[in-house]
Amino acid sequence: MNLSRDQVLDEMGLSPRWALREQPSVARGAKPTPVPQANDALAALTVSAAERPEHIARLGWEQLRQSIAVCRSCGLCAERKQAVPGVGDENADWLFIGEGPGAEEDERGEPFVGPAGKLLDAMLAAIDLKRGNDVYIANAVKCRPPANRTPEAVEMAACAPYLKRQIELLQPKLIVLLGRAAVHALLGETGSLASLRGKPLAYRDGEREIPVVVTYHPAYLLRTLPDKAKAWEDLCRARALMRLEKAG
Ligand code: URA
Repeated sequence: MNLSRDQVLDEMGLSPRWALREQPSVARGAKPTPVPQANDALAALTVSAAERPEHIARLGWEQLRQSIAVCRSCGLCAERKQAVPGVGDENADWLFIGEGPGAEEDERGEPFVGPAGKLLDAMLAAIDLKRGNDVYIANAVKCRPPANRTPEAVEMAACAPYLKRQIELLQPKLIVLLGRAAVHALLGETGSLASLRGKPLAYRDGEREIPVVVTYHPAYLLRTLPDKAKAWEDLCRARALMRLEKAG
């Protein structure tokens, strides 16, 4: 989707309009090659529950997608049309994590393609980002919760090894969590979003601490227009943190 800056800011309900300063482009460091791939992604269906996280932790991108597509580890598989693994640049520095697929995502197999996705695209554009270009988008759960209810803790726990593996493969420089379910899934935090916004948070990936920025879910922002300005603050903070990460 190609939106002008003014369209983007209108979409986000932001006024007055800010101009982001031009940043020097930073050469992207080469990332290490992903670890060797396991032999059989479908084996996740047959390994024991205890062995499943270790099995998933050895999968490469393609096998991970295959494994997610056939996953039956929680009740959400019963009503899905298809699983929605994630989309974007597999070398992205930015990782955005939402809650779970809705009806349109379930239909199309891609995260954030409905109305909330349109706003997410506008939020990305507001900080000069674009889906698929240095950005990867994933969800806490990969299958649609019936009637778009919030995923249950047990469902997020069943999907956690997939999200963990996505982060390991991606090695993002920054993670943006969209809404409470994403915060709960990744950080185990169950406090209010308002209490977590603006706090210095991090996700531990092995030896690395990846900075985490928490903001409102685009679907919530569509219902609560005044909070769009707070989301803008969060995005600016995320952008500043990313600059530090790239500089450091
Ligand atoms: N909401 C989400 O959290 N994720 C999607 O993919 C779509 C809507």
